[in-house]
Amino acid sequence: MENSHPIVEMRNITKTFGSTRALRGVDFTVMRGEVHALVGRNGAGKSTLVSALSGFTSADTGAIRISDTRFEATGQNYAALIRDDIAHVQQTPRLFDHLTVAENLFIENPLIRKKFGVISHKSMLARATALLNEWNIDIRANAHAGELDAGTRQLLEIIKALSRGVPVMILDEPTAALSNAEKRVLFEHVKTLKNAGISFVYISHHLDEVFEVADIVTIMRDGQVVKAREPVGTLDVETIANLMMGEETVRSAREDHTDKSAPILLQAKGLRVNKFATADIDFEVRRGEIVALAGPVGSGKEDLAMILAGQKKPQSGQVTSPRGTLPTIGFVPTDRHASGYVGILGVRENVSVGGLDILSGPLGFIKGRKEADLVAQLARLTNVISSSLEQPVSQLSGGNQQKVVFARSLCRSPDVIVALSPTRGVDVGAKEQLYALLRDLASKGLGVVVVSDEEDEIEQLANRVTIVFGGKIVDELVGDYSIKDLILHMEGVA
Ligand SMILES: Nc1ncnc2c1ncn2[C@@H]1O[C@H](COP(=O)(O)OP(=O)(O)OP(=O)(O)O)[C@@H](O)[C@H]1O
Ligand SMILES: [Mg+2]
Repeated sequence: MENSHPIVEMRNITKTFGSTRALRGVDFTVMRGEVHALVGRNGAGKSTLVSALSGFTSADTGAIRISDTRFEATGQNYAALIRDDIAHVQQTPRLFDHLTVAENLFIENPLIRKKFGVISHKSMLARATALLNEWNIDIRANAHAGELDAGTRQLLEIIKALSRGVPVMILDEPTAALSNAEKRVLFEHVKTLKNAGISFVYISHHLDEVFEVADIVTIMRDGQVVKAREPVGTLDVETIANLMMGEETVRSAREDHTDKSAPILLQAKGLRVNKFATADIDFEVRRGEIVALAGPVGSGKEDLAMILAGQKKPQSGQVTSPRGTLPTIGFVPTDRHASGYVGILGVRENVSVGGLDILSGPLGFIKGRKEADLVAQLARLTNVISSSLEQPVSQLSGGNQQKVVFARSLCRSPDVIVALSPTRGVDVGAKEQLYALLRDLASKGLGVVVVSDEEDEIEQLANRVTIVFGGKIVDELVGDYSIKDLILHMEGVA
């Protein structure tokens, strides 16, 4: 291989946010034509490091060499100077909802500007359509980005960056919202571009992806590199996890707090979950159980969860409770960036918005003391790490943003929790914390419904797995099943 030429060399990069030392003298080197995975726990500094590289955030000290040019990492003009060298797909989607797909794809691309800055809409649409075809995406180039689902939006971000034709691509958690099929398409493109000499910095919490696409792995912990440029072939999942954690990892086991005679909290009868559904669904959630809804993307499992949570109307059928009134439901949405939190607001406001009705007095004023106490308690329960409860959520690492969304869902002391992809973007350690939280809630008598694409997660959590396919329930596992049973049952429908 002729990967021996560095394309990126970052030296002694530091960055401090207030009292947080996000980067403490980091060295990071990327060779031409390699896929370099950058892994580490939530808050390890991954996004900060790549943001310093792309110029999205400026570092406090350090130097960066790109090809043969040396820059001060702190330089004012840095971002403008490296525009043609580096493209960065950020962890938080940045599409403009009111622009079309084509406009979003080419907004930063100088090639479609004609003389005097006039944009040729015709050529833009044609090029966008060609790109969409090439990526197998079945949407119109003139559709508004706001109408698209989370997976398509994420793919568009990636396509937009990849089509700029720059030598270094940064993908920060690119697959968080992608289906398996979409992931395949992405990985194919990454491989093709890599063979053409493009370099990738690939950030992911999914270590299986790291083993699939990466050549080289760098592991960060607490703002430092703890393993630099290790060939992926010499590592295994456990070694990586241990280096990330700095201690042995434990994989916690499922607990069973179910009781067949426990009362039903929520009941769905004769549900048609979407217009493609061909059969009715009957489903119930009992006190103390954790039920997982599993099945391929598009199976209707998300629709079922949204309907149970009262976030979506069914085509027909209804959700009731044998107790008469519907229980209070805590909801964790699948796309936290779109509907989970408001970035400019602090942790306190983001959490308490989940319970404004119970926190406000008769005149509608929020009871400040009560709010502060409740938010502090929920932030502790969900292990949110922030400098204060006033810190804007946009400043938190991805995993901590997800914990804020969890805290919000618990604000009104719900009887049932419906959580879609509860640990998306969450590191292995924080995952265990959220699992422990869900088990604890179940032991206290809540009913928990989890939608997940991760077999490990389902097996560690769910006392019952309902497999959804084509808008109907096709299979169910209850009680003492193994991960192998789960995979076999899932394969049965895929
Ligand atoms: N704009 C900011 N203001 C204040 N603190 C910040 C800001 N951005 C990041 N931080 C802090 O810097 C540290 C590193 O965060 P960073 O986002 O780089 O982590 P990460 O490794 O990408 O984590 P994740 O896997 O959760 O995305 C964290 O403690 C985070 O809270
Ligand atoms: Mg990050």
